[in-house]
Formats: sequence, C-alpha cells, structure tokens
Amino acid sequence: MTHTANDVASFCKKKGFIYASSEIHGGLAGFYDYGHLGTKLKHNFENLWRKYFLGLNDNFFEIETANVMPEGVFKASGHLENFIDPLIKCSNCEFGERADHFLTKKLGKRFEGLKPEEYTALVEEHNLKCPACNHELLPATIINMMFPLSLGTGSGGKGYLRPETAQSPYVNFKLQYELLRKKLPLGLAIVGRAYRNEISPRNFTLRQREFTQAELQIFFNPDKIKFHPDFETVKNYKLRTLLVQDREGEAVREKSASELLQLGLPQFYVYHLVKIQQFYLDVLKIPAEKFRLYQLSDQEKAFYNLFHFDLEIELDEHGFTEMGGLHYRTDHDLGGHQRVSKENMEVLEEETGKKFVPHVLELSFGVDRNVYALLDLGLEDNKERGNIVLHLSNQLTPFYGAVFPLVKNKPEITAKAESVYRLLKEGYSIYYDESGSVGRRYARADEMGVRYCITVDFDSLVDEAVTIRDRETTKQERVKISHLKAKLFELFF
Ligand code: GAP
Repeated sequence: MTHTANDVASFCKKKGFIYASSEIHGGLAGFYDYGHLGTKLKHNFENLWRKYFLGLNDNFFEIETANVMPEGVFKASGHLENFIDPLIKCSNCEFGERADHFLTKKLGKRFEGLKPEEYTALVEEHNLKCPACNHELLPATIINMMFPLSLGTGSGGKGYLRPETAQSPYVNFKLQYELLRKKLPLGLAIVGRAYRNEISPRNFTLRQREFTQAELQIFFNPDKIKFHPDFETVKNYKLRTLLVQDREGEAVREKSASELLQLGLPQFYVYHLVKIQQFYLDVLKIPAEKFRLYQLSDQEKAFYNLFHFDLEIELDEHGFTEMGGLHYRTDHDLGGHQRVSKENMEVLEEETGKKFVPHVLELSFGVDRNVYALLDLGLEDNKERGNIVLHLSNQLTPFYGAVFPLVKNKPEITAKAESVYRLLKEGYSIYYDESGSVGRRYARADEMGVRYCITVDFDSLVDEAVTIRDRETTKQERVKISHLKAKLFELFF
C-alpha cells in the first residue's frame, strides 16, 4: 500500500483526525488542530508512552510546566546562540528554504550541521539556482528559531516559547530532586508543547511550528554510566541499527546489546536503546522492518550530545523519518543553568561523599510525528471492501468497538442494542451507530480504525447473543451478551 503525504492529510481532514488550524481565517503554515478522532488517537499514544517509560523506574515522574520561559533559560541552554537554522534565499523572488533541506532535495544526501559558508560553497559547486524562478541564490545565512514574547507592558522582561520541553525538567531538577528524597537516577518527563519558527514548515504534521513532544530526562551519576542493573535481561536483544560505520548501502544491521558495548557505548545508554525499540515493536506494534536506530555522526549531532541515535520509522512517501532520539547530553544543561542562574546544581552522593553535577540521558519523541507514522502505516485502501481500512492496535485506536442495531425501525432491536452499548461503554471507548445500512456502518468503522463492530439482530431477541465482526479479517463470531464484556477484554490484549 503506497500513499503520499497528501493522501494521509486529506484522509485526516475528511475523517476528523487532523487538519489545518483556524482554516476559516485562512490558517497559518505549520499549525494544525486535532479533531475528535485525532485527539483520541494522540491521547492514546501519549498514555501508552507514559505507562511504558514512566514504568521503567519507580523514580521516574511526569511534571507539567509553563510553556513560556525567561531569557536566562535559553542563555543557559545555548538556544539563544545556537538554536539556529541555515537559510537559503533567492536573490530575485520570495523563495526561502532551510539550506540543508534544500541541498538534500537537490543532491539526495543529508547535510545537517554545516556552517553557512559550507552551504554556500555546495550551492556554488553544484551550480544550484532558485527552484521557483531560476535566479541566483543568495549566500546562506542563519536565523534563530525561537519565538520571542514581550510580556505585559514590556517591563515584565523578555520571554520565549520553549523550543523543546527538555529545559523545563532541567530548571525543575534541584527542587524535584530534594522533594523526591535525593535519589538518582531521577526521571522527569513532560508531554507538552514545543514551538519553533521553522523556516519551511511542511509535510503536514511532520514539521510544524507548534507541536507536542514527549520527553523523559533521566538525571544520573556519570560514574555509573557503564552499568545498568537490568542490562543482563537485555544483553542478547537484537537492535536494528544503522551505525555510522555501516552507512554505505544503508542496510540495517542487527546488533545485540552486548555488541554495542564493544563499540564503546555504555550499558546505561544501550539499555534505553533496547527499551525504545521494544516500545516501538512490542507496544506500538510497528513492523520490525519499518523501524531502525540511526546513529548520527559527530558532524550531524548537536555539539552537546556525546551519543545520539535517532529513532526512525519508514514512511510511505518520505522513507525513514526521525520520530525521536536518544541523547546523552552530559552535564551540558545543568552546568549551563548553574552558570547562568548561580543556583548550585551539584548533588552529594552519600556513600562516597562525592559532589557532582548529574548528567542527563534524554529520551525524546515527537508525538505528532509518531501519530502521523501510525496513520501512514495503518492506512490501507482496501479494494475488496471498497473503503479505507485503518489498521491501529487495540490500545491506540480511537474506538475499540461500535454497536449497531441491524435495523432502526424495530424498537425491540434498538432497545437491546442500546442496552448492549450501555453495558460496554463503561469499560471501552465505544460508540453507537444506527444511521445508514450496516454495510455503510462497517465501512465508516473501518475508516475510523474501529476493531470490533457488534451487531444486534433479530436472533439476538431470542438467543441473547450478538455478532462481533473483526476489522482485520471481517470474520464474524456469535457471542452471548452475558459473555461479551469478558470476550472483548480477552481480545483486547
Ligand atoms: N529535546 C531534544 C529535542 O528537542 P529534536 O530532535 O530537536 O530534539 C525531538 O526534537 C523530536 O521532536 C524530533 O525527533 C521530532 O519527532 C519532533 N520534532 C522536532 N521538530 C519538529 C517540528 N518542527 N514539527 C514536528 N515535530 C518536530
């Protein structure tokens, strides 16, 4: 099944998953709203993420924090200076694009992390012109991607919309560490908004100016990075990696967790790589061949990341696309906040009496990109059924079930169907539908990703049973109403 990003976008709008924000006023590039189905899917993803990653350690917690932060935060983090994108503009028309994206499109390779003069040299070397009007391109420049805000009358100081959720746990660290009885590792997670003034927002929700991230910052003792207490349980687990050394040919190589240690990666890092892959394959049920862990080269990764793998899913139109990353950020952030705020970020290890600034391992995920990937992988234009079928796991799908009366002009049948609906809606996300033919209702349900359609028919009045139809196979099964809740529970996992 192949479809373009446009197919995904028009499906999303038609069904109420995701669409351009404020469209009646013309909208703004890079801003999207989630409709009634999209919001449920997004929340289901976020809740699975919370349950899984917060469940990795009893000392991991979620916090919820302000999206606007003072300038000092971004002085400390380096965003004021370094959160910049290279820009290529036309000398004649309005064309402008991120220089690395422009070059990737033209030359078919990744070009992240170069200096403006290096982008300009590449443009000259390959004699590239404006794709809109064919005039000369200007030398590459840089722009800061943060949204500045002027607060109150202006005297309230300067604030910025945060460009990543990560800075919030860093500024909360000291207080939370003390409140949580001074234990490391400490995990602080945020599922929240981030804002970036992207030069070219594009590809639907893959590159927006306002988006949701789910990030877990793990603060730990750097002396213990070579060790993870549960490493034994994952040491033979095969990771689907594309290492820098294996780039040629772009083939994924399976490497066991122990093999990655031999390449110089520490246990604490590799253990979390395993947990991330298991989240994608076992929880989200992404087919293994669509997933890979892409190691960034020194040139590609942010300067403060000592180790950096991207988590990628293969999309229909875009190929392997970054969904998130595992970043070893060292003491870059806490060190920066300590320097600028003058607040001491050191902790004292009681056993050894040693004082140190904790290091950070960051598990970072773009929620919108992951939701997009789930839709992209799940969409099937089913020729046999004559409708779209959205394949989503039972944990993710907006509606697990739907209840239909076979006909709507028989009060005994609609009354029974309504009682079945009331019975089930307490435990599952489920809806009731009596409009149109049953065939039409099945098609609608398939498009919404509903897993089981439950039909109450004439026989139900006699045998106290209903028909369950499975979205994946269209097979139907007769189940006693008294057993229905238990049956759906059995099928859920
Ligand atoms: N705290 C680390 C951090 O923010 P990042 O690679 O810049 O790292 C993390 O962003 C994830 O956020 C990305 O892997 C991607 O999934 C998502 N993301 C980044 N920019 C985005 C954008 N403009 N639109 C949608 N998602 C974005």
